[in-house]
Amino acid sequence: MLVKPDSLDVMTLRNAFNTTIMGANVEIIQTTVSTQEEARIRAEKGAAEGTLILAEEQTGGKGRLGRKWFSPYGKGIWMSLLLRPQQPLKFTSQLTLLTGVAVCRAIRSTTGIEAGIKWPNDILMNNRKICGILLESAVEDEVVRYCIVGIGISVNLDDQDYPSELKEIATSIKMECGKAVDRTVLIAAVMDEFESLYKLYQHEGFQPIATLWEALSVTIQQEVIVSTYQGQLEGVAVGLDSSGALLVDMGQGKVMSVISGDVKLK
Ligand code: BTN
Repeated sequence: MLVKPDSLDVMTLRNAFNTTIMGANVEIIQTTVSTQEEARIRAEKGAAEGTLILAEEQTGGKGRLGRKWFSPYGKGIWMSLLLRPQQPLKFTSQLTLLTGVAVCRAIRSTTGIEAGIKWPNDILMNNRKICGILLESAVEDEVVRYCIVGIGISVNLDDQDYPSELKEIATSIKMECGKAVDRTVLIAAVMDEFESLYKLYQHEGFQPIATLWEALSVTIQQEVIVSTYQGQLEGVAVGLDSSGALLVDMGQGKVMSVISGDVKLK
């Protein structure tokens, strides 16, 4: 059998993980519509917390706000992690922020790239996106049954891989550091970071995560335009509140907290 040098492999991945829960069950699919849907099917059948589904290619990768996620074969990390947090729905946005911290730290430690986080969950380098995070929850009576954390990292894409509409706004780790990156090493770093931050979150709550997030953020202390379902607002992003909402100082003593929306740095 011909094995491509950079293809993902379950045994190699398992050996690279230093985790006990995250990635304890890992599955690699060559081509699927979306790993989110693959993870949802397994969650409904009772798969354990920490189950990780990866795909070499997604034909219908999903982004936030109904957008598509470009996921070409073998070039990135397209993966979904199943969580079963025992908490009300209103706290799940904290898990999105936690994931951003885990991925940002993993990218920094494995590649040396000074990646930063744009609220709520984009990882940027030189103002272009290298990673997006999509958290989807299944809920019953306001209680979370499970969450699926979708992580898309553009690892080894070259400029010519991108369709024209993405060229100006997206980049890849390879384009930023000038050489291809071993996806296994990066996936393992994300799992290790995620597991230790998740334990910290379970023991000490959101505050230490918020502090780490603020330190990695490219949004805090910046003038921003935030588009929400209720309309646009402008001001200075000053921090996170205890739920994970972004606090925007609009001047004259008026501070708004934004739970969901899209941020543009001015
Ligand atoms: C965004 O920034 O809009 C979120 C993008 C999330 C993409 C990942 S790739 C793995 C998982 N499967 C999907 O279909 N989407 C997420």
